[in-house]
Amino acid sequence: MEILCLCGSLRRSSYNRAALDAARGLAPAGMELRIAPLGYLPLFNPDIVENTEVANLTHAIAHADAVLIASPEYAHGISGPLKNALDWLVSDQTFPGMPVALINTSPRASHAMAALREVLTTMSANIVERACISLPLLGSELDAAGIADDPALAKALRDMLNELADEIRQNPRLSAVQKRET
Ligand SMILES: Cc1cc2nc3c(=O)[nH]c(=O)nc-3n(C[C@H](O)[C@H](O)[C@H](O)COP(=O)(O)O)c2cc1C
Repeated sequence: MEILCLCGSLRRSSYNRAALDAARGLAPAGMELRIAPLGYLPLFNPDIVENTEVANLTHAIAHADAVLIASPEYAHGISGPLKNALDWLVSDQTFPGMPVALINTSPRASHAMAALREVLTTMSANIVERACISLPLLGSELDAAGIADDPALAKALRDMLNELADEIRQNPRLSAVQKRET
């Protein structure tokens, strides 16, 4: 199983990035997490018809069994890097039906999560609610190793990944499976 991770923060010591890095190390056997580099994408412009970074992103989406998003809230909204990436994927033909799990690293940040759900629903994603979690990382000073070493946080991440794996097994995305076989 291939899980493509989208991180809405470009910050070096990002809690969201740390949560995704920790999840990568906690993934069950047979599941691989890959983090897409969103910082190199051009600002969305429908006039751009060919771009290597956009092509890499859409290629990774086509091969993914699911997407895992961890993103901060900025000024009660979705972070710019994440919204930019999603805008590039709006017309992507393999995105509709994509199982998506969300990690909120700041339980007080509800506006961005609500907006993100609205955007993903508009893009016909399959938001896997039982695989959406909130981790109290803001102010914790934890890095990926610290998150993985914390029993409660590690359990929440493992449970989330197992729920996502269950969803993938129940509703496999044919496009991802077929593309890997060709
Ligand atoms: C410009 C800016 C705006 C922010 N706006 C909000 C906000 O509206 N709501 C909130 O809960 N946190 C807000 N925060 C806090 C960030 O979400 C928080 O610092 C988060 O940890 C950043 O994610 P990261 O650690 O992955 O980089 C804001 C931070 C910055 C720098």
